Amino acid sequence: MAHQTAIISGVTGQDGSHLADFLLEKGYNVIGLVRRTSTVNFERIAHIQDKITIVQADLLDEVSLIDVLREYRPREVYNLAAQSFVPTSWKQPVLTGEVTALGVTRMLDAIRIADPAIRFYQASSSEMFGKVREVPQTEKTPFYPRSPYGVAKVYGHWITINYRESYNLFACSGILFNHEGPRRGLEFVTRKVAHSAAKIALGLAKELRLGNLEAKRDWGYAPDYVRAQWLMLQQDQPDDYVIATGKEHSVRDLCRIAFESVDLDYTRYVIENNPQDLRPAEVDHLLGDASKARAKLGWEPSVTFEQMIQLMVEADLAALKKTYNLIGDA
Ligand code: NAP
Ligand code: GDD
Repeated sequence: MAHQTAIISGVTGQDGSHLADFLLEKGYNVIGLVRRTSTVNFERIAHIQDKITIVQADLLDEVSLIDVLREYRPREVYNLAAQSFVPTSWKQPVLTGEVTALGVTRMLDAIRIADPAIRFYQASSSEMFGKVREVPQTEKTPFYPRSPYGVAKVYGHWITINYRESYNLFACSGILFNHEGPRRGLEFVTRKVAHSAAKIALGLAKELRLGNLEAKRDWGYAPDYVRAQWLMLQQDQPDDYVIATGKEHSVRDLCRIAFESVDLDYTRYVIENNPQDLRPAEVDHLLGDASKARAKLGWEPSVTFEQMIQLMVEADLAALKKTYNLIGDA
């Protein structure tokens, strides 16, 4: 496996940065695609910047994808790039469709044209289950997306399967349930809560405004989930897999656990049903059944929800203390 080349779209994102760490450990030559920006946003990959090759390419521009595949001749392509924040998908539905849906076709077409032997991973999502048709959700559960983002992911999922069946591509779709960690973007609810609990504990904030506290998710730990992405591309046959912990928690549980980890009672600080944080259509609960991944990939989650939230709060406490030059414990 040493010196295989892998291309990661979305390498500056949460998963892209963890996957780059993982593939470097395995001895891969890692090529990370970044879109052009006026200033660099490499915070999550700063520690490995000199170990990976960073190349400009955009999911909106197919020629840029074909060129990079022809130049670097990868064995594997991980398509992690997307407009991934659900609320933004109502504000920018067409952009979300262009990147998160049609971007998948551009990448698949680029592979078909440049080298159809490339193994392809598509970052599909539990958001596709939306208004869930059964509990828990498996690879066979029908989709009922509840956001423009979810609709775009359903398109990306089916175009991946279609290219596998039409052109015999080694194309896999990973239906990943929510996964988090200290590198999670600040707007997603786990990080928003962890970061605010740390700020309040340090006396840097007084309250936390949230939307729907009753929503439930099956939250896992991001480094565990990128391992599953790699495992899918090491199998003899391409296939689709649900990746989940099989445990669900509410946003309220999340608040309680995060605030308790800094000896605070969340009910004194959290303001719920903030209109700006409520969604036009909600996904009330997601719970995955990853039996297929356990049986065929030998995949298991390694970190519990409680451990992960504690780890996230601790990471934010340490980062805030450094930023504000604070000493001593919270
Ligand atoms: P993320 O942190 O939001 O990262 C998204 C990445 O996509 C960033 O690197 C971003 O670049 C890049 N990107 C956006 N538009 C692009 C474009 N037009 N061309 C090229 N790159 C573009 O997302 P994540 O949490 O790591 O998730 C990775 C993937 O898994 C996404 O497809 C997401 O939808 C999917 N997913 C995530 C979860 C989860 O719980 N995390 C669950 C299921 C599925 P910039 O840094 O320049 O913005
Ligand atoms: N972001 C956010 N902010 N969510 C809140 C808030 C808030 O203030 N208050 C309550 N929530 C609720 C949301 O309504 C939702 O039900 C839940 O918390 C989780 O929201 P997010 O963390 O934004 O994640 P998501 O489930 O919408 O989407 C994430 O997971 C998907 C997989 O199911 C993203 O990573 C998607 O890209 C991913 O596909």
